[in-house]
Amino acid sequence: MGPTAAPFVLCRLDELADPGSKAMTVDLPDGPGEVFVVRQGDRVYAYLNRCPHTGGPLDWVPDQFLNLEQDHIQCATHAALFRIQDGLCVAGPCSGDRLTAVPAGVENGDIVIRPGPVGVRDSPGDGSDHE
Ligand code: FES
Repeated sequence: MGPTAAPFVLCRLDELADPGSKAMTVDLPDGPGEVFVVRQGDRVYAYLNRCPHTGGPLDWVPDQFLNLEQDHIQCATHAALFRIQDGLCVAGPCSGDRLTAVPAGVENGDIVIRPGPVGVRDSPGDGSDHE
């Protein structure tokens, strides 16, 4: 387990559209980096803003990470689609790869990012063995 960084309050849950998404720069264990959060009902999911295809950011329009149907995260560069719940790419050039998850949750109505350790996956045994 690597070093940890301080928890970060993004905003109140009810300040984010449902579904909706928002990005911010946070202190990660290996330096500053951009993280985005997607809200679905009372749950939030956070990932590094880094597409596994090229390593570039996912959004062209700030804070817009969802497709038109708002049921997947979409990369603006080549339109890859990722499941909101676990970041698995289900369509596009990086199909089968995953976004890098960042621990996040709702505490007393606040969306809280806990950036360390980064890269923890909540579905082990999925056969993917690369970052
Ligand atoms: S950079 Fe994201 S799909 Fe190509």
